[in-house]
Amino acid sequence: MSVALKNDRLLRALRREPVDCTPVWLMRQAGRYLPEYRATRAKAGSFLAMAKNPDLACEVTLQPLARFNLDAAILFSDILTVPDAMGLGLYFADGEGPKFERPVRSAADIAKLAVPDMETELRYVMDAVRVIRRELDGKVPLIGFSGSPWTLACYMVEGGGSDNYSKIKALALNEPAALHKLLSINTDAVIAYLAAQRAAGAQALQVFDTWGGVLSPAMYREFSLPYLTRIARELQRGEGSERTPLILFGKGNAPYLEELAASGTEGLGVDWTVTLEEAARRTAGKVALQGNLDPAMLYGSPDAVRAQVRIALDSYAAGNGGSREGHVFNLGHGLSPDMQPEHVAALVDEVHAYSRR
Ligand code: CP3
Repeated sequence: MSVALKNDRLLRALRREPVDCTPVWLMRQAGRYLPEYRATRAKAGSFLAMAKNPDLACEVTLQPLARFNLDAAILFSDILTVPDAMGLGLYFADGEGPKFERPVRSAADIAKLAVPDMETELRYVMDAVRVIRRELDGKVPLIGFSGSPWTLACYMVEGGGSDNYSKIKALALNEPAALHKLLSINTDAVIAYLAAQRAAGAQALQVFDTWGGVLSPAMYREFSLPYLTRIARELQRGEGSERTPLILFGKGNAPYLEELAASGTEGLGVDWTVTLEEAARRTAGKVALQGNLDPAMLYGSPDAVRAQVRIALDSYAAGNGGSREGHVFNLGHGLSPDMQPEHVAALVDEVHAYSRR
């Protein structure tokens, strides 16, 4: 387990230590924009069959690293494995995204939920972490992840993706105690899930609060922020240079950067609705920042992509006293299936080339 890392830029940046150049990884770096991913998926038969097979999950985790000089691998899995293990019955209807057979709709449904056992019900995830660590052989660190309590609750209550979050917002208004109970169970599950991934070999951990930004400020501060803070405070992740850093990513979290930076997290992932200069000023060196190129910039030409990368790198430095320390380059959200691998290559290359100067 303790193979020395050949590339520890990501961990150094998350500790705000000096690096030779800015580390970069990309949300959804393993995915349908890669022809080799589509081939493995066809071989497996479905996304879930691939995610539940540790060897195939390892194969697709490593695919983007073979193409691009990425500074981290991210476990190939999904945030919805946890509610699936709680008994909700995850499935993917063709072209419709994730769905649950048995969504959570009432206080009675919530009362039946329990934190799943990580080494039995979610064993396939921990096995994937172990296989990937072995195959990576210290090349780059492996990032484990989970959904946030709120984002998981969105899928659990809506039964799938949603345009307006009508069911969970009605629950928040009509039965707030029941929703808090659900969020509290999800928080316990997220903490256990991340701790198990760390024990299995994950070297950094990210929480995806993808839907925190659909809440009003008052509701964000009631239903998402306190649970993210509890994760940052309670998740045992070691001390000093042995500490496994945590990254809290949130779409639409720009209004709350000061509060998130005070949570105890090591890293904060931000989207493109705030400049890195402003985010760095407002967080004042308390956390490392991850982000934040608009993924749609990848629809531009490779030269346009390179120019946008330089703007983001310089924006971070401008807000951080001229220093690039404490920055992990990423997109503000994930890559999409219609993006071109050549443009991703230009992005990764430019992050390293420009930040090294
Ligand atoms: O980043 C990575 O490369 C690691 C893998 C990863 C996946 N999902 C693989 C995946 C991660 C980190 C996730 C997290 C995830 N899953 C989130 C949070 C991050 C985000 O993007 O907002 C959410 C909201 C989900 C739920 C989910 N799973 C959605 C909305 C979808 C897409 C459905 C679709 O058809 O587009 C999935 C499926 C999924 N998860 C795919 C991948 C590569 C596509 C499945 C396929 O191959 O058909």
